[in-house]
Amino acid sequence: IKKIAVLTSGGDSPGMNAAIRAVARTGIYHGMEVWGVMRGYSGMIDDDIFKMDSRTVANIIQRGGTILKTARSKEFFEPEGRKKAYANLKKRGIDSLVIIGGDGSFKGAQKFSNEFDIPCIGLPGTIDKDIAGSDFTIGFDTAVNTAVEAIDKIRDTADAHDRLFIVEVMGRDAGYIALHSGIATGAENILIPETKTDIEELVANLTEKERRKKLVNLVVVAEGDEFGGANEIARIIKERLPQADTRVCILGHIQRGGSPTCLDRLIASRMGYHAVECLMTGKTNVMVGVVNNKMHYTPLDKAVKAKQKISEDWFKIVKILAS
Ligand code: F6P
Repeated sequence: IKKIAVLTSGGDSPGMNAAIRAVARTGIYHGMEVWGVMRGYSGMIDDDIFKMDSRTVANIIQRGGTILKTARSKEFFEPEGRKKAYANLKKRGIDSLVIIGGDGSFKGAQKFSNEFDIPCIGLPGTIDKDIAGSDFTIGFDTAVNTAVEAIDKIRDTADAHDRLFIVEVMGRDAGYIALHSGIATGAENILIPETKTDIEELVANLTEKERRKKLVNLVVVAEGDEFGGANEIARIIKERLPQADTRVCILGHIQRGGSPTCLDRLIASRMGYHAVECLMTGKTNVMVGVVNNKMHYTPLDKAVKAKQKISEDWFKIVKILAS
């Protein structure tokens, strides 16, 4: 391995810059050339590739977003697109690839490395924490802390008006942001895609709290819950519980931005460092993850979106602590 290209793909997540920095600096430390690809696979196809040096990644560890920008490329999923991408790597002598992104990006990498002789390493970069093979994904901790900070603020105004707030957090297929931020902010109910919600029980629970004049009522909903997010839940609740003064707040993309937390910087740095180590030791076509605080390697085709089974304990905790 002499020349590594690194790219970010799919939705951005805080900590991607720290991972790019780690890949670049570790590669350069070992005497390799490191190349940056702009806008994910699109930049590989459009030949938007540049040589990085140690200074290219200076002063970025604390920055959200990604200096390499990101995109979701449809063309790369066509054989023609991958052929063009390969030609652009080959003409520079690039012999390996590090992809920071989600499971969709890994699928592309798996296809690419099967067709061409380019070993690929994936690093899980998504705020959703929905990829098998890692306890953490780069960006999750920052996103969840952003959500907690925002929900704390909502709690202040909810308290001032004795209101019921339905707060929607991100998570199309995974409820981790909702579960973690909901418990950390003392939410009454948390609705996530992984489990069915008994709407009658939810209404009964809120009615009982309304009767007891419980001052703050917060319901945290993942955008991908079975009802389709906060607006629909609010509509149902308003119909069934018209006496409650109900408001909706959708946190949206603020969860994707901001300076990464210490944990995200740390896992991004560890993962980036180990990505290069993997390439050097021939452990290729794997996603680098962290399981039980140890590095863990999952074949790229197994590093898929995993609808995890959420332990009943989590919901017991919510129920008991918010009573
Ligand atoms: O996968 C990360 C994520 O932020 C999801 O939580 C969300 O559903 C989606 O991306 C939003 O994507 P976009 O930025 O393309 O609207």
